[in-house]
Amino acid sequence: MARLMVRGGEPLRGSIRINGAKNAVLPMMAAAVLTRSECVIRDVPDIRDVRVMIEILKDLGVSVQLGEIDGRRRLSLKAESIRTDVVNAELMKKMRSSVLLFGPLLARLGSARMTYPGGCAIGPRPVDMHLDGFAAMGATVNERGGQVTAAAGRGRLSGAEIHLEYPSVGATENIMMAAARADGVTRIWNPAREPEVANLAAFLQALGAEIEGIGSDVITVRGSGQLGGAECGVIPDRIEAGTYAIAGVITGGELTLENVRPEHLRAFVAKMKEVGAGICVGRDRIHVRGPERPGAADVRTLPYPGYPTDLQNQYLALSCVGEGTSVVTESIFENRFKVAAELTKMGASIHTEGRLAVVKGVDRLCGASVEADDDLRGGASLVLAGLRAEGTTVVRGAEYIDRGYMNLAERLRSLGANVVAMG
Ligand code: EPZ
Repeated sequence: MARLMVRGGEPLRGSIRINGAKNAVLPMMAAAVLTRSECVIRDVPDIRDVRVMIEILKDLGVSVQLGEIDGRRRLSLKAESIRTDVVNAELMKKMRSSVLLFGPLLARLGSARMTYPGGCAIGPRPVDMHLDGFAAMGATVNERGGQVTAAAGRGRLSGAEIHLEYPSVGATENIMMAAARADGVTRIWNPAREPEVANLAAFLQALGAEIEGIGSDVITVRGSGQLGGAECGVIPDRIEAGTYAIAGVITGGELTLENVRPEHLRAFVAKMKEVGAGICVGRDRIHVRGPERPGAADVRTLPYPGYPTDLQNQYLALSCVGEGTSVVTESIFENRFKVAAELTKMGASIHTEGRLAVVKGVDRLCGASVEADDDLRGGASLVLAGLRAEGTTVVRGAEYIDRGYMNLAERLRSLGANVVAMG
């Protein structure tokens, strides 16, 4: 198990360039299955989830070439022919978001099969809204013993009116991709409004799909038999940006985050100001200055543009040293406070009950041996707590952190942190 050793106490200083967004690049990679033409994606982060998605695409018969343009990774994908409608089960276990291949396979081939491993660290993570959407588009969907199969009537999906009970990011993306190759018009009501959905839509439009209403309460997709090729950039990762911002705040340091879309982080920036951080927002950068000790403030995670669930654990770590009591409400996932038990080992005072965590700020945290458990955000949050704690924190399960953070230890060291990756 990979480990990170963190010696706390150093205020972070300097600037760091934020990478392309994990949760934007993964659906864009899946979308390449919709067309025979070449797709080029720019600013692709070198993270484990991207490597797994590349393996899955290769297993499907997609040709993959990785290159660089002015120091940024460039991914070329060409799905000239797809050799199977089955998403590789072993690889699926490594990354739940490979469910995003289901819609593109179903739309391209008229059928799709996958093993859906069910819940993980942060909750059951069902895909009922994805499958209900495909059924509304005329697919026959069967689920038995974790195996999911779907077949489109007469080999092609039809446009449909689809109402999402909840603005699911993955369901919105999967249905939008399938609708891009369906016959007729599909309307997705109550869609997710996350920036990553907009990035995917822009990519699909570049491929030739007709999509309107991104960011509104209904997305309209006019399907077409053929899509072409395109080149598209990946938006900056707002979650990586927020994670580094909290690294600056929790250590009382001063950081400049470059290659950021501040408009994607409004709720987060407001919360950081509320706890006393000095924040200066530029066109594509954010300057953060941490107070000696952060204040306390309640936070509730919400679908975008509310405070993001993927920055909840990081805030939990910050509130452990806040001046006062903070109540954190996790309204997106059923079980996203697992990191609380590990933070408690470091001296934090956190009481969790269902979707609530009550955090009483303490004067200091102490280094300890803690474990990241199948949630990359929880793992990153333990590193953040270690940056503040007195003494040394050893974070086990660092391989989970690699799923979504490129070279975290090296990049933190470039900001003055004392973090070492151990075997
Ligand atoms: C995406 O997951 C992100 N992952 C998650 O980031 C993020 O936390 C989440 O959106 C919310 O913003 C990727 O984009 C790869 P949802 P997704 O569908 O699509 C329930 C990270 O750390 N639900 O919006 O799976 C579901 O159980 C990851 O980078 C259903 O009930 O999120 C959850 O409680 C973690 N049925 C809620 O909706 C469904 O069919 C939100 O899920 C689908 C979802």
